[in-house]
Amino acid sequence: MVTGRSYKETMEQALARGARRGLSALERSLSKVLEPLTPGRETPEPSRAHGVEVPAFDSTRPIYLHGYGDERPRVPWPAFPPTGYLGQLHPEFQLRLAAERAFVDLEDCDFYHSAQLPSGEVIDGAWDLRGGEEAYLGGVGIEGRRVLELGPASGYLTFHMESRGADVVGFDVGWDRSIDLLPRPGFELGWARMDAMRFIGAVQNSWWYLHREFESSARVAYGNIYELPVDLGEFDVALFGAILLHLKDPFTALSQAAAHVTDQIIVTDLLQDPELDQSENLMRFAPQAVEYATNWWSMTPGAVVHMLERLGFGATEVSFHAQRHRLAHDLSKPATEMSMFTVVASRG
Ligand SMILES: C[S@@+](CC[C@H](N)C(=O)[O-])C[C@H]1O[C@@H](n2cnc3c(N)ncnc32)[C@H](O)[C@@H]1O
Repeated sequence: MVTGRSYKETMEQALARGARRGLSALERSLSKVLEPLTPGRETPEPSRAHGVEVPAFDSTRPIYLHGYGDERPRVPWPAFPPTGYLGQLHPEFQLRLAAERAFVDLEDCDFYHSAQLPSGEVIDGAWDLRGGEEAYLGGVGIEGRRVLELGPASGYLTFHMESRGADVVGFDVGWDRSIDLLPRPGFELGWARMDAMRFIGAVQNSWWYLHREFESSARVAYGNIYELPVDLGEFDVALFGAILLHLKDPFTALSQAAAHVTDQIIVTDLLQDPELDQSENLMRFAPQAVEYATNWWSMTPGAVVHMLERLGFGATEVSFHAQRHRLAHDLSKPATEMSMFTVVASRG
């Protein structure tokens, strides 16, 4: 938590500093991207790419790099440090990230997790991990430990772990990348990536919304999970919560994190094939219907154990639990129990 000055004061001062320097980096980037990119060109007809229609590029209207259309920007175009995403954990950079997101309100956010705010108000999200945190973390004690959380989404676990005394650094996908989308014949991945990152940006906004509400001092870095910034530092524990199934290359992501971890890796994932022997080393590619572009794998805990052993995390424990989830992220639906597993792997 921010001590001394309040979170609000800290952010206001950071913003005021930015204002004194003239246009902030964010404003400069936004002013570039909000202008029509090529004024004066003819508006073209809708085009077809790979057999599917893509929206026409209308040069007379603003285009936001996080989406198209003329809605107000929900997600700031970030001013990331350019080379290798280095330097992100520097306090000044974290303040800048927070200051640039000081505008986010509820309508700028997509909440992946339900969360109860310090005021008592509950925000509904697709996953409600309240009460299930210990099982989700495999019973690992996190007090006083440095935790690297891969893919924190709205950050329910970030702020939970922080409230239990952990020093948490989140890592999420950077804007110049996209989350990994499964290809599908006749489907234009370029536009899909833009839409996906617009959604992910709103989820990242929700992390910052909760960060402000909880007056958190958790930090976050963005970038390429397959080539983590080398200066993230060392952690006692890494947490992969419901992210491996979304990665084209889960082994590379695990091995990248392993290089930053001295003690334990926690992997929690969906138990998608309960009829299998879960100790078997099995991964099934694209386990769901073709329209599920983000679910790359169904994997057994046995497969996760196998990967972690190869990375030197040879002492493993597997547990099973269920967490409340609203299918298809439809908040009007009642929550159902989703079967999950957690692997806790320690070095040695
Ligand atoms: C399904 S959410 C998991 C949320 C949280 N960890 C939990 O366990 O409840 C997946 C998270 O992984 C991130 N993510 C997905 N693909 C990624 C990629 N290729 N690189 C980095 N982060 C990614 C998403 O942005 C999101 O924060």
